[in-house]
Amino acid sequence: MLRSTFLGTGFAVPDRVVTNDELSKLMDTSDEWIHTRTGIRERRWVREGETGADLAFRATERALKMAGMAAADLDAIVYATSTPDHFAPGNGVYLQRMLGAATIPAIDIRTQCSGFVYALSVADAWIRSGQYRRILVVGAEVQSTAMDLTTRGRNTSVIFADGAGAAVVGPAGREDQGILAFDLHADGQHAEKLWVDSPGSMYHPRVSPEQLEAGRHFLQMDGKEVFRHAVARMPESIRAVLKSAGYEVADMSLLIAHQANLRIAEMMQRDLALRDDQVYNNIMRYGNTTAATIPIALDECLRAGRIASGDLVVLTAFGSGFLWGSAVVRW
Ligand code: COA
Repeated sequence: MLRSTFLGTGFAVPDRVVTNDELSKLMDTSDEWIHTRTGIRERRWVREGETGADLAFRATERALKMAGMAAADLDAIVYATSTPDHFAPGNGVYLQRMLGAATIPAIDIRTQCSGFVYALSVADAWIRSGQYRRILVVGAEVQSTAMDLTTRGRNTSVIFADGAGAAVVGPAGREDQGILAFDLHADGQHAEKLWVDSPGSMYHPRVSPEQLEAGRHFLQMDGKEVFRHAVARMPESIRAVLKSAGYEVADMSLLIAHQANLRIAEMMQRDLALRDDQVYNNIMRYGNTTAATIPIALDECLRAGRIASGDLVVLTAFGSGFLWGSAVVRW
């Protein structure tokens, strides 16, 4: 059976580092509060003029280099973001233009924190069906421009951040290698628990001074509810995806989970009884970069030699929607 696998990965974050102490000067918060509740020490935010597509382009250059390929070798782009540079068109076409790629298809996936896993499932289906061979899968976000930098917005503005990760995916070279299974879910009952209300096409005009005044263009979150569902859904999905590929949690070499909050990751590790060497966390340095956390962590793991040929790696995510899901990959 034809399977798809990772041929190259890369990531890029803005060079502007924002520490917890810096945020403490803008709102009523502290390094101690942020670190204790989320694990985050610092994050990266774009400077004015730097876009999500810019970050995605830099991440893609690294992924292509690792794959030993050029943009001209790509057959399609699947770009996951909940924070496109514009309402329309999506960011896939901006990245295609920057890469100077041919007129290959470029689609945006809007599944927020689960964006990379969903985007990967689209690329995997295209490759297995034989429609396209080499697909660029991107998870990239600019969250900092939707942060309320006052005490009113402190429950989200200390968590979310900017970054991009990219992967070139293509047919696996060995029969036992590649993406083995996906487990994908959505539950729209919780749509307003982590969302950006405005601008929206249901409003005339799409954004009003009153909405701006009320802060409805900022990311809003019911943190306790998100936490409660995240710690249940991700372990459930990890067990399900492993089972559908014929494995158990104990067989997993490495878990790369969406970097939502270090406390969520720690609860999940305890629930699944995983050793420290079976998990990877980098939220301390980058915060929650939504669709970008998994490809950033994956690239760091690969370049640090944390993943070897034959390893069983699980990617898992949970977030706004609620949407969640996992992928299991034999390296
Ligand atoms: N600094 C200081 N105090 C803060 C704060 C901050 N950055 N953010 C919130 N608080 C305050 C609240 O105002 C509240 O004060 P009050 O008791 O006087 O009303 C108090 O801390 C507790 O707030 P609460 O929202 O109940 O905190 P919590 O213990 O649930 O922790 C989160 C807040 C956001 C850290 C936590 O809910 C969480 O991690 N949720 C999951 C978030 C997540 O992972 N999101 C991404 C999913 S993809």
